[in-house]
Amino acid sequence: MRVRPLLEAILVVVATLASGTLECGGIQPTPEQRQGAQLYGRMCAVCHGASGEGYRADEAPALAHPAFLGSVSDGFLRNAIANGRSATTMSAWSSQRGGPLSRADIDAIVSFVRTWETLPRATLDERPVLGEASRAEPVFARECVRCHGARGTGGPNVHIGNPELLSSASNGFLRYAIAGGRAGTAMPSFAASLGQEGVEDTVALLRSFQSQAVTVTNPPPARPPPIPLGPVPLNPRGPEPAGFHPFPATASVDAVKAQLDRGARMALLDARAPSDYTNEHIAGAVSVPFYDPQPYLQALPRNAWLVAYCACPHAESGTLAQKLQAAGFTKVTVLDEGLGVWRARKYGTHTGWDP
Ligand code: HEC
Ligand code: HEC
Repeated sequence: MRVRPLLEAILVVVATLASGTLECGGIQPTPEQRQGAQLYGRMCAVCHGASGEGYRADEAPALAHPAFLGSVSDGFLRNAIANGRSATTMSAWSSQRGGPLSRADIDAIVSFVRTWETLPRATLDERPVLGEASRAEPVFARECVRCHGARGTGGPNVHIGNPELLSSASNGFLRYAIAGGRAGTAMPSFAASLGQEGVEDTVALLRSFQSQAVTVTNPPPARPPPIPLGPVPLNPRGPEPAGFHPFPATASVDAVKAQLDRGARMALLDARAPSDYTNEHIAGAVSVPFYDPQPYLQALPRNAWLVAYCACPHAESGTLAQKLQAAGFTKVTVLDEGLGVWRARKYGTHTGWDP
């Protein structure tokens, strides 16, 4: 019985160490790392986990993984954070892309993420790729597609065919990931099954995806956030929506669309980063990012239903709903399936920073 409180105390210390708020060996975090920790906790932990353990939501990868941190460059990390990964829920966070973070903020997050690095850097083989892409086609179809998707995009795990990822990933990083895998995650090690030549061919295939990628993305002009709140609620003179219940209850896209069609009074709140909102949002929705609803609280109606959504389907919208409820809003719910299903149903979306 006596050991219980001691054990709990130890667990708290271990958890604090793991979350990076306390440093091993009495090393104090620098002001930059502290700032990075604060931003990370507010904006990133919802998907990547408070300690970078990954997979809190959305198959977001494990940023604290020793094999990842030991092989990734700061440039890769900065690029991923600044520009996000198109066609995934990883937003572009830099202010140049319409996100909330300055260059200094992004550097601060990178230096905080580096505090999780416990092992020496891996020695990477950065030589030019010697493999034959065509030889890896059947291997890729057999071994990689189910997790990473055809041509490395559209699968459940990291979009390794994403041209932004590949342009910042070095040959050494790719070889190391494929040969060694990521122990403790779904990513297997392929050194034994494919051999060095097979790994080399696979890297060559990834490089061919990169060179064949058509960059159709013509992003709408970015605008520094916060985006001004558009008109809320929709249909100010309309009836109450029927069948809505407060979060943690959710409302299906069909239910919300039916209520909109009958002219019900409600507001749709896009909980994602403003860069995502500008790219595409539900027609009529306003931008209220999950990490900082504060600037909008005064202007949001307390007597109309607020329906938060994201693409996740619930991580960012659920966080926003909780913050609104904590601020005293009672008519708050979450769109169950998120933007992806809304888009697939052709219920109407809009590009730009106006609703
Ligand atoms: C809505 C969930 C979500 C949030 C919030 C989020 N990410 Fe991500 N992030 C992802 C997903 C999903 C991926 C993988 C994308 C893909 O499939 O390629 C990713 C990828 C990354 C990568 C690249 C990892 C790799 O293995 O290539 C980094 C670095 C990263 N995120 C950092 C951050 C940081 C820092 C923040 C906060 C400023 C953040 N993310 C916020 C979901 C999220
Ligand atoms: C069972 C699922 C699964 C299979 C099969 C798989 N992967 Fe992965 N892969 C993952 C996951 C999950 C990660 C991210 C792990 C993490 O969180 O660090 C990953 C990460 C990677 C990365 C690192 C990307 C980055 O930005 O961190 C590369 C490169 C990669 N995989 C290539 C491949 C190749 C090539 C194959 C086939 C030969 C393959 N994977 C097969 C699940 C899989």
